[in-house]
Amino acid sequence: MALQEVDFETPDFDVYPVRHDLASATSGDTGIHITWSDGWESWFHFLWLRDNCPCAECVHPVTREQSFEIMSVAEDLRAAAAHVSGDGALEVAWAGDGHRSRYHPGWLRAHCHGEASLRAPASTRRLWDAGLDGAVPSFGHDTLLVDDVAALRWLESLRDLGIALVRGVPVREHGLVPLIERIAPARWTNFGAIWNVDVSLEKNSNAYTALELPLHSDLPTREYMPGLQFLHCHANEARGGDSLFADGFRIAEALAAEDAEAYDVLTGEAVEFRNTDPDCDYRYRVPMIRLGPDGRVAEVRIGNFLRGPYDVAPERMGPLYRAYRKLVAMTRERRFQIRFRLAPGDMVGFDNRRILHARTAFDPGTGYRRLQGCYLDRDELHSRIRILDRRLRARDMSPG
Ligand code: OGA
Ligand code: ZN
Ligand code: ZN
Repeated sequence: MALQEVDFETPDFDVYPVRHDLASATSGDTGIHITWSDGWESWFHFLWLRDNCPCAECVHPVTREQSFEIMSVAEDLRAAAAHVSGDGALEVAWAGDGHRSRYHPGWLRAHCHGEASLRAPASTRRLWDAGLDGAVPSFGHDTLLVDDVAALRWLESLRDLGIALVRGVPVREHGLVPLIERIAPARWTNFGAIWNVDVSLEKNSNAYTALELPLHSDLPTREYMPGLQFLHCHANEARGGDSLFADGFRIAEALAAEDAEAYDVLTGEAVEFRNTDPDCDYRYRVPMIRLGPDGRVAEVRIGNFLRGPYDVAPERMGPLYRAYRKLVAMTRERRFQIRFRLAPGDMVGFDNRRILHARTAFDPGTGYRRLQGCYLDRDELHSRIRILDRRLRARDMSPG
């Protein structure tokens, strides 16, 4: 059954196919027990259901943001009656104020507390090592501009592998911008919104020299380190200047397995990252490996040239240096690295809070080298993925 055939309100802008019908609804002491046509069972707490009533009184019909106040009902709120309506909705009449709620079965199923799909976003991550060499997913610029399916594949690669290549990005000033804006406008930093990596006179970073840049993250100095980085090659004629990448999450995982003590230090001890120049002074204290609420690695920060002097307790200094050296040594191991050379028109995108990037030293006397780049936040990527996915699902469900 397609959504268009069902005239129910849903509390948000997403689309919800009805793949299973509600078979029965039984009110218990603290919630409502549902059985579905495929035999699946769900249970919803009374307060949760009341909190998620999609009616126009509870959710503003234009903004789809909640106007209902949780404090306007009793903590021991109960349903006076619950049943499956003739058109397949869950209908609940509430004790107390007699408010009535109708729940869309597709929405209800998608938000079932027990559904594995609720946890799916965390499980799409695919860690990689040197085996990815030569196999980084690659996409064509012109197709990405017009094709939502291709764009979604590109963004999913950035989300899941943390890296993707685009070929054929127009080699001109800000040539990467139209494609980047398929996701969101570039994030401004003290390096500007769109910045150039070339040997420039304005030396506020080692990036603007011909030096080797060992594997690092950009802007680990910022509380919210940019989640995505794009580097678009305009010219790469000098000898040297190859690109290296490694999956920081994979290295962190290997560190946990091979040197648990170092892993504990790097996930527990906050250290300062610093980026200072004549006009700014960014500092942020954070563990180099940061874990998310699920206990998995959520962020890795490595920036040899962007660190402040360590200021941990004296007895922690030895273990910290040992752990830090171990981590850096692992980033130098070939088993984790992939390497390629950007050509004009190539653009590499990567999750800057996960993937470490490097370039080999180059000799500016042998030719011109110039990259143009920008940052975005990770949640812009996730938002755009959901929107493209929603649009494609809505298209699939529409009759014509
Ligand atoms: C940077 C950087 C990579 C390169 O500017 O931070 O990592 O290939 N540049 O020049
Ligand atoms: Zn309501
Ligand atoms: Zn960099």
